[in-house]
Amino acid sequence: MAPRKIIIDTDPGQDDAVAILLALASPEEIEMLGITAVAGNVPLELTAKNARIVCELAGHTDIPVYAGCDRPLNRTLVTAEHVHGKTGLDGPVLPDPKMPLAEGHAVDFIIDTLRTQEPGTVTLCPLGPLTNIATAFTKAPDIVDRVQEIVLMGGAYFEVGNITPTAEFNIHVDPDAADIVFKSGRPIVVMSLDVTHKALVTKPRNDAFRALGNKVGIAVAQMTDFFERFDKNKYGSEGAPLHDPCVTAYLIRPDLFSGRHVNVEIETQSELTMGMTVADWWGVTDRTPNALFIGDLDADGFFALLTERLARL
Ligand code: BDR
Ligand code: CA
Repeated sequence: MAPRKIIIDTDPGQDDAVAILLALASPEEIEMLGITAVAGNVPLELTAKNARIVCELAGHTDIPVYAGCDRPLNRTLVTAEHVHGKTGLDGPVLPDPKMPLAEGHAVDFIIDTLRTQEPGTVTLCPLGPLTNIATAFTKAPDIVDRVQEIVLMGGAYFEVGNITPTAEFNIHVDPDAADIVFKSGRPIVVMSLDVTHKALVTKPRNDAFRALGNKVGIAVAQMTDFFERFDKNKYGSEGAPLHDPCVTAYLIRPDLFSGRHVNVEIETQSELTMGMTVADWWGVTDRTPNALFIGDLDADGFFALLTERLARL
């Protein structure tokens, strides 16, 4: 089968970085058309820089990286340095990127790519707030039907929230953008906290990354060393949750994941529950299902895949 064409929209972030590395290590399954950066974990200037650092770490200076929206549609940007550190990629010491940003705005790249590629052949993979994607859909509504699928990290049902008691970070930062995307009518796969909190980098899993001995394996081990302290302190969990790599792993091995096709609506009005993903997991409404909401994974299979792929870089 031909590799799946994707655009990764991202706010790196250590877990975003691992998601990108997994995609770049998997050319049989994934053809990366480009990376679009958005403000999220850290401001845009840093996410656009970090995306290029990650491409260079993987030896892929051929991937165009575009800078996109520097703030949510209607709200003030909330960032997460308390999780990811000041740079967004704290942990390893990696050189500043030499590759320049691609010319033009990320939103225009998304629009142009969807207009020029065959309809139904491009998958969007958002790993951060959905500002770039929603802006593209609003600016060029003709592209929406040309999207093959949207496989995103965001939201939660059983785990409820990580940035507020009721909201997951990516959705909370730009709930209006998320609302536009979830109402787009395109097939959506949601890697919620319910699944990503089961993708934990335990010590043996991190040792396996480090034991790869290549630059990438060591950098990923150092990233998770840094990133894990937040979740260990907050949840008492065994290690860092690899949220965003669930998206790229799903493109390679969807059989590792399970979920339900349900209706998901986004709270955009109440400040108390802003950005909550109201998922009808139990089918208690007659609202039309609009998303495959993933709740579980084969964690050992996921880490075996990730380790095997990172070894290739
Ligand atoms: C999401 O928020 C960010 O901190 C991570 O990169 C991930 O995309 C998890 O809530
Ligand atoms: Ca992210």
